[in-house]
Amino acid sequence: MKHVYIDTMGCQMNKSDTERMLGMLSHFDYVEVKNPEEADLLMINTCSIRQLSEDKAFSAIGTWGKWKKEGKDIKIGFCGCVAQQKAEEIFKRAPYVDFVLGTHKIYSLPEIIKKINAGERVCECTETNATEDNLAKEYNIERVKGVNAWIPITEGCNNFCTYCIVPYTRGRERSRMPEIIIKEAQDALNAGFKEITLLGQNVDSYGKDFKDRNYRLAQLLRDLNALEGKFRIRFVTSYPTDITDELIETAIELDKVCEYYHIPMQSGSSEVLKAMNRRYDRETYAKIVQKIRKMVPDVTITSDFIAGFPGETEEQFEETLTAIDEFELDYSNVAAYSPREKTVAAKWVDKYIPEDIKDKRFQRLNDKVKENCLKSNKKYVGREMEILVESFYNHKGKNIITGKTRNNKTVHVPCDKDLTGEFVNVKISGAKTWYLQGELI
Ligand code: SAH
Ligand code: SF4
Ligand code: F3S
Repeated sequence: MKHVYIDTMGCQMNKSDTERMLGMLSHFDYVEVKNPEEADLLMINTCSIRQLSEDKAFSAIGTWGKWKKEGKDIKIGFCGCVAQQKAEEIFKRAPYVDFVLGTHKIYSLPEIIKKINAGERVCECTETNATEDNLAKEYNIERVKGVNAWIPITEGCNNFCTYCIVPYTRGRERSRMPEIIIKEAQDALNAGFKEITLLGQNVDSYGKDFKDRNYRLAQLLRDLNALEGKFRIRFVTSYPTDITDELIETAIELDKVCEYYHIPMQSGSSEVLKAMNRRYDRETYAKIVQKIRKMVPDVTITSDFIAGFPGETEEQFEETLTAIDEFELDYSNVAAYSPREKTVAAKWVDKYIPEDIKDKRFQRLNDKVKENCLKSNKKYVGREMEILVESFYNHKGKNIITGKTRNNKTVHVPCDKDLTGEFVNVKISGAKTWYLQGELI
């Protein structure tokens, strides 16, 4: 047995790639270890969404480089979005790296392992825009243990929002074959997973690139819903103007599909949205959210926002604050704008917002998110809800189970039995900013 350690940064897409890479490595007798000091092979799966994420990747592997210099017999791999973008440049910055593996080429990992074991140094970052469907089918997936299995349904993105690096690191949008997705879901259910989350930068585009068949997200949900057993289905991320009525209606009709939409708005100002190349304005976003709220009782709608986009005025920023209130967004991820190489907005240097102002806006945005989160959670106090239990632990002498409601609220419940993986009905007894408190009924 050999030991591999993978440090995974970034979004669920990267986490999913890590599970696939671990699956491939298991064919070479590698088992995963949680302590890097025990590993023969050390890999980092990087994210480049913000400059900070990129910088973190290099600082994280510094220690590994030191170990190698001191004579430790290890191999080091640099993977993911930064790898895809920087390719050979990585070797200049971190000469101790044995291989660089971009997001387009993860299925060449088996070949790479053979080459590095023969003493070669390898860089595999060609942009192929391939799907894996015709590649390496025999390789399994080593999923992170838990109740929720993440399954990518599309790769890449065609939207080219002016701030975003993803179309450059993940390539053009392409859909995975339904048969493969359904098989992965069935395998996950057979292995005991209780929730399937379909993953894509824009899930509503699923199937648009199929030339010879008319098969879209609503159909995929129907086919997954028909699988045996009790489990839940979620899908993220939704692009506001791509959510169709058919999708909303199908999601309502299917018992396993949960009442949860992640619909990033990015800014509350129509002018800023235009500069971001988002294809909707404030009013259009409002209409979509209002429609979903009307059609889906108890729906949770979450969003992402960027503070301090180039040229954003104080008034425009305040429109983001009022959007969170007005659309009653239950939770939002918040980020300060970070210029990314190659993207359009990064060139607008004369419009950059000074760091101190950007930081303050970021703080104010966070405060607003917190305020609304608490408001949203309070709506559920006194209600009976079903949770899917995700963990069991002891906190200050008390045994607790933690789970999620169908509408994606986290609930902590005192309970002496480990009910992980079970569906449990609870009564909501209290609301905090980030979670609900509940009692068994
Ligand atoms: N496909 C999703 C977003 C994926 S990236 C969508 O269209 O909404 C995740 C989030 O990172 C984005 O929603 C955005 O809020 C944030 N983000 C992307 N690029 C950024 C940048 N350059 N600076 C700060 N935040 C950024
Ligand atoms: Fe990035 Fe925009 Fe694509 Fe989302 S839709 S991944 S923000 S380019
Ligand atoms: Fe995800 Fe970061 Fe890449 S958010 S797609 S890992 S740039």
